[in-house]
Amino acid sequence: EKGGYDYFMLKEIAEQPKAVADTLLGRIDAAGSLTLDEVRIPANVLREVDKIVIVACGTAFHAGLIAKYAIEHWTRVPCEVELASEFRYRDPILDQQTLVVAISQSGETMDTLMALRHAREQGAKVLAICNTNGSTIPRESDAVLYTHAGPEVAVASTKAFLTQLVACYLVALYLGQVRGTKWADEIRAVVRDLSSVSGAVERVLETMEPVRELARSLAEKNTVLFLGRHVGYPVALEGALKLKELAYMHAEGFAAGELKHGPIALVEDDMPVVVVVPSPRGRSVLHDKIVSNIQEIRARGARTIVIAEEGDEAVVPYADHLIRIPATPTLLQPLVATVPLQVFACELATARGNEVDQPRNLAKSVTVE
Ligand code: M6R
Repeated sequence: EKGGYDYFMLKEIAEQPKAVADTLLGRIDAAGSLTLDEVRIPANVLREVDKIVIVACGTAFHAGLIAKYAIEHWTRVPCEVELASEFRYRDPILDQQTLVVAISQSGETMDTLMALRHAREQGAKVLAICNTNGSTIPRESDAVLYTHAGPEVAVASTKAFLTQLVACYLVALYLGQVRGTKWADEIRAVVRDLSSVSGAVERVLETMEPVRELARSLAEKNTVLFLGRHVGYPVALEGALKLKELAYMHAEGFAAGELKHGPIALVEDDMPVVVVVPSPRGRSVLHDKIVSNIQEIRARGARTIVIAEEGDEAVVPYADHLIRIPATPTLLQPLVATVPLQVFACELATARGNEVDQPRNLAKSVTVE
């Protein structure tokens, strides 16, 4: 049931604040520490882990790319992220001290399943992050942390992505807790920030009308570029993937620092370029760099669509369109920054007369390799 919405995708976008809150529910105790009882990998095994490898496809892969930043920051354990379809064919180096995290909404993606089978054959422990109870990927894993997004029907993944991020943050913090690299009060502080993110997503959703209007005005364009840095880079990749899937437009995500190494040659007069701007607080170096990237592309004629925190005034002179998101700690920013990109792609698809819930050539779950 679409619950009054025209498309499942719109309903699922709107359900995100609840999906995020539900995925946190019951996983934090009264003292503010994490109780991930489902993660049935003994603490002594988790303490021995010396490498984390995340495998996933599509949107779930983007969640993994973001998780890497959080995992390495909070646990200091090296973390690699790999497309499940590439992983097993290059004979990856795995052993008993490797923790493989397989992320999948459906739990039935064949590429991800084959990657985790390969990992277990090499003796690695596999933790699944999955949205579908009892599906194949969690059944074949050593442990599972379920996301509580509820059923996701639209082919384009939205609420599952946000809950995958929440689950990844929980795993990262839990590892930090078990291994003692993160102290209780730091974990409590992040958990507090995580708990307020659901409200922030709600606020983003309330301000999306200008984004829809902008999307409609771009219906005739052929190309949209997306730029980001740090955790904003995978957000840019996700924004581009959504646009390809739904609007059938040429869309590419780039790390903003790579611009001058090639992609800037693509910029043409009036070409829409979406830029995800990191928080101006704390990481001001990164922020300054992206502001100069915005200036550079604008000087070459780009139409800049800037996603920036409330109160970030430095971007104002260079933004042809400014999309505001609530201030959020850097590592958690993807939870709010992705939402406008979902709305943007959905509205552009509608404006182009495309079938939003069932894009051409795609299936909700890809059960062949
Ligand atoms: O069910 P999964 O999370 O394993 O699916 C992975 C991808 O097929 C999926 O995220 C796909 O990229 C979506 N259509 C993206 O919107």
